[in-house]
Amino acid sequence: MNAINELKSNPRPAGARLTGLGTYRPKKIVKNEELVAAIDSSDEWIRERSGIKERRMASDDDTVVSMGVAASRAAIKDANVDASEIDLVICSTATHDTLTPHASALIASEIGATNAGAHDLNAACSGFSYGVAESFAQIVSGNARKVLLVGSERMHDFINFNDRTTAFLFGDGAGAVIIEASDTNCIGPVVWGSDGSQSEAIKMSVPWHDYKRDTSQPFPHVQMAGQQVFRWAVGSMAPIALAAIHEAGVTPSDLKAFIPHQANMRITDALVRELQLPDHVVIARDIEVSGNTTAATIPLAMAALRESGAVSRGDLALLLGFGGGLAYSAQVVCLP
Ligand SMILES: CC(C)(COP(=O)(O)OP(=O)(O)OC[C@H]1O[C@@H](n2cnc3c(N)ncnc32)[C@H](O)[C@@H]1OP(=O)(O)O)[C@@H](O)C(=O)NCCC(=O)NCCS
Repeated sequence: MNAINELKSNPRPAGARLTGLGTYRPKKIVKNEELVAAIDSSDEWIRERSGIKERRMASDDDTVVSMGVAASRAAIKDANVDASEIDLVICSTATHDTLTPHASALIASEIGATNAGAHDLNAACSGFSYGVAESFAQIVSGNARKVLLVGSERMHDFINFNDRTTAFLFGDGAGAVIIEASDTNCIGPVVWGSDGSQSEAIKMSVPWHDYKRDTSQPFPHVQMAGQQVFRWAVGSMAPIALAAIHEAGVTPSDLKAFIPHQANMRITDALVRELQLPDHVVIARDIEVSGNTTAATIPLAMAALRESGAVSRGDLALLLGFGGGLAYSAQVVCLP
């Protein structure tokens, strides 16, 4: 028998780019005033400490899958592709309601992406940026030519609305992008990492198996050491963002937009100061009306900037995800 030590590989494109963008925002708006009584807080305190005025809350019918489907359909239309052309569907989520089936397989089936591989990705608040990097890798390796990347979250199922340190921070929603093979590259190298030694700073109140043994305790919900996360984000994320700019071979003045994970407006402000971005760089501040939607913040904020007319297709934007894990991820992309 002959030994075979070389196999065929798919043709490899020069690069990849984001070509379509879509979102889904649940209809129900929850203002700060509706949350403050349960946590002895005020609209002023929440606005001043987080920059949040309101957030969206999913209805009973809005699942991670249904919101992801709506955002995906909009992204597919925006990219002017057919669902059957999609080779891979990735859903970044931390809040899908079943371990199996996974969300991406259901989304793929629902939208008619019948020729696509499908897998979920959980990197919490940096899930979208991780997903861009994973999509890029699948495209430039030749495994896929068109990828649908979805960030979809139903955070409110896992929030204790009596916990004053988290009740006002989070929201629900979904965003999706189409990423396609391209003759010219428009997704810069990812700069990423994680620090599990600080994972207790954002965690579930109890693991599922503990809750199963004692269901009299509160349903598992997000707990957070807010100040620790705040200090970590402000102290550690600026060098990551600068490294992503450097790795992409551009300078801050080449950027049109900075789209960080929407965790707290004061974190965004501190990062903007640290990065010394030129005045012409538009800063995403979607947290004001959306809260923190975990893996959905970056595509939602991207769409808000585009809808406002502040950015256009092809503009360079710095994406920066950070949060649970504690994981982080950044890259420069041309906007869809
Ligand atoms: C949660 C967060 C907004 C709290 O803001 P903060 O400025 O750190 O607030 P502190 O926890 O220091 O509390 C300050 C004071 O406000 C009080 N307080 C806390 N929560 C409050 C609330 N919801 N309403 C009113 N007062 C509140 C505290 O008791 C404290 O009072 P004291 O000074 O009398 O002791 C902030 O820490 C944060 O956003 N952290 C990062 C969160 C994040 O990014 N999470 C997701 C990561 S992906």
